[in-house]
Amino acid sequence: MGENIKPGSNGNGNGHHHDGEGWSEPRLDLSTHVAVVTGGFRGIGRATSIMLAREGARAVGVVDMAPELGEFCTEANRRLGRDAFVPFNGDVTDAAFRRHVFTSMEKSHGPVSICIPAAGITRDRLAVRVLKESGDVDIYPESDWERVIAVDLTAPVYWGLETIASVARTRGKAGLKRWDPSENVQGCVVFIGSVSSSGNRGQVSYATAKAGLEGAQGTLAAEGVYHGVRCAIIHPGYTDTAMVRALGDEFIRQNIIPQTQLRRLIKPEEIANAILFLIRNPAISGQLWADAGWHPVA
Ligand SMILES: NC(=O)c1ccc[n+]([C@@H]2O[C@H](COP(=O)([O-])OP(=O)(O)OC[C@H]3O[C@@H](n4cnc5c(N)ncnc54)[C@H](O)[C@@H]3O)[C@@H](O)[C@H]2O)c1
Repeated sequence: MGENIKPGSNGNGNGHHHDGEGWSEPRLDLSTHVAVVTGGFRGIGRATSIMLAREGARAVGVVDMAPELGEFCTEANRRLGRDAFVPFNGDVTDAAFRRHVFTSMEKSHGPVSICIPAAGITRDRLAVRVLKESGDVDIYPESDWERVIAVDLTAPVYWGLETIASVARTRGKAGLKRWDPSENVQGCVVFIGSVSSSGNRGQVSYATAKAGLEGAQGTLAAEGVYHGVRCAIIHPGYTDTAMVRALGDEFIRQNIIPQTQLRRLIKPEEIANAILFLIRNPAISGQLWADAGWHPVA
C-alpha cells in the first residue's frame, strides 16, 4: 500500500483541514464506506474488489454469476484477515436480486455508497455480414443486441442509481437536503467504459453500450452531487482478463499488442488502481482513459 496516512485518520475529507500546501489532500476515506462491485469474481471486478478491501473499505459486496464466488470470498477474507468480502450470487440484470444486494449490505454493514458495476459481456460479430457460400447478407442478431445492452448498459446504470438512492435515503432520514462541501463526499459510482466506446469493428452492441454509459455518467454526475455522490467512467484498453484471453493468443499478438504503446496487455490491478484514484480524488470529473496507447482503427 505504501501510504503515509492510515485509513480513517486523514480526517480531511471536506478540505477544511488544510494544514499547509502539499501536506494534505481532501481524499475520500474508504473506511467509512460500503462498496458493491459487480462482476467481482473475475478480471477487473475481482482486482477492484480486492483493492477496495485492502485499502480499508468497511465491506465489499461481491456480485457475480460464477458458482465459485463463495469460495473466492471465503479465501479473500482469510487472506485479508477480516470479513470484508460478502458474496452475492446472481444476475446483474435481475432487479429483485439487485435490491436484495443493497438491502442486505445495508443491514449487515451500512448503506452502500460506492459502486463499481464491472460485470460485462461481449457478443462480437460484424454488424452486417455477407455469407461466403450463399452470398446472402445477414444482420446482427437482435437477441445478442438485447442481452449486451441489458448487461453492459442497463444494469450498470441501475446499480449506479441504486447506490445514489441508498445515499439519498440515508441523508433524507438525517434531514439533510442539498449536499454541502462541508460534508465529506458521500459516495461514488465508477462505470467501466472501454476504448471500444469510440467504435470498434465487430462490436456494434458492446461499443453502443459503452458509449451509452458516457451519457449516463454525465447525467448522474450532475444529479448525484445533490446528494454528494460523484460519478465517473474509466475506459480501459485491452486488459489481461478471461474476456480478452478468449480472443486467442495469436489474435492478441497480431492485432492488439502492436497497437499499444506499452507492448503488453494492461493488468487488471492497473485498472483497479485507476478506479481507486477516481474514487478518492473528488477533483476528477468525467472520463479517464486507461488505454495503454491503444486506439480503435477506423
Ligand atoms: N478486459 C478488457 O480488456 C476490458 C477493456 C475495457 C473494458 N472492459 C470492461 O471491464 C469489465 C470487466 O471485464 P473483464 O475483462 O474483467 O471481464 P471478465 O469476463 O474477466 O469478468 C466479467 C465478470 O462478470 C461476470 N458477469 C458477466 N455477466 C454477468 C451477469 N449478467 N450477472 C453477474 N455477473 C456477470 C462474469 O461471471 C465474470 O466474472 C466489463 O464491463 C468489460 O466490458 C474490459
